[in-house]
Amino acid sequence: MRTDAAFSDFVHFFRSWISNPLRVASVTPSGESLARLITKEISPMDGPVIELGPGTGVFTRALLARGVAPSDLTLIEYGPEFVPGLQRRFPEARILQMDAAKLAQAHLFDGDEVGAVISGLPLLSMSPRKVTAILGGAFAYIRQGGAFYQFTYGPRCPVPRPILDRLGLKAVHIGHTVRNLPPAAVYRISRRKPLELVRERSRERSEAEAVVLPGNDNSAH
Ligand SMILES: C[S@@+](CC[C@H](N)C(=O)[O-])C[C@H]1O[C@@H](n2cnc3c(N)ncnc32)[C@H](O)[C@@H]1O
Repeated sequence: MRTDAAFSDFVHFFRSWISNPLRVASVTPSGESLARLITKEISPMDGPVIELGPGTGVFTRALLARGVAPSDLTLIEYGPEFVPGLQRRFPEARILQMDAAKLAQAHLFDGDEVGAVISGLPLLSMSPRKVTAILGGAFAYIRQGGAFYQFTYGPRCPVPRPILDRLGLKAVHIGHTVRNLPPAAVYRISRRKPLELVRERSRERSEAEAVVLPGNDNSAH
């Protein structure tokens, strides 16, 4: 990207952050290194792809560089200030100004067709209820074998374990970059396989049973 365009994106982003710090949650757009990391597992075969919170389109450009067809992109951006720029830069993509927590009600596809969801959303500043709605909505469109990619500036996956458990999902750390301001990590979130679910349920059962072992069990006395 040209330096003057990058500078104008920075100014645009910074102004958005000033007017809505919780929604934008970063003073500057992500760098190219993070964009490459979060899209590194994506191939043209993953289309259609949904991107959540594209902002100025750093991850969108990386998705196109990975070979995803522009017409295979659905961009969901809540901030009205970002939408005209996205429409100008990615005229063939479907761009919707909406809250990603409303994905399930939006009927974006006829079924589970999507190969990947790339998320630039600030999940750490959202309530557990909202995070659950976003992931639940996204997985209603993600086909078997597909995944949801999320970056974070935090030390662990920004989706809390109880939410992953409730939705039958697992998160795997796929990389970290210090060449971003601030440094960031990326997680791949996918469905647990049936066997993993069985193991998880039996672990939960044994933990529940452990609570009533002799020391805690009044009937033994
Ligand atoms: C941290 S910025 C990331 C922007 C871009 N992906 C990047 O990495 O530079 C968060 C983006 O998510 C958008 N956003 C925040 N909450 C959203 C929501 N509920 N639904 C859709 N977009 C949202 C913000 O407007 C902003 O564009």
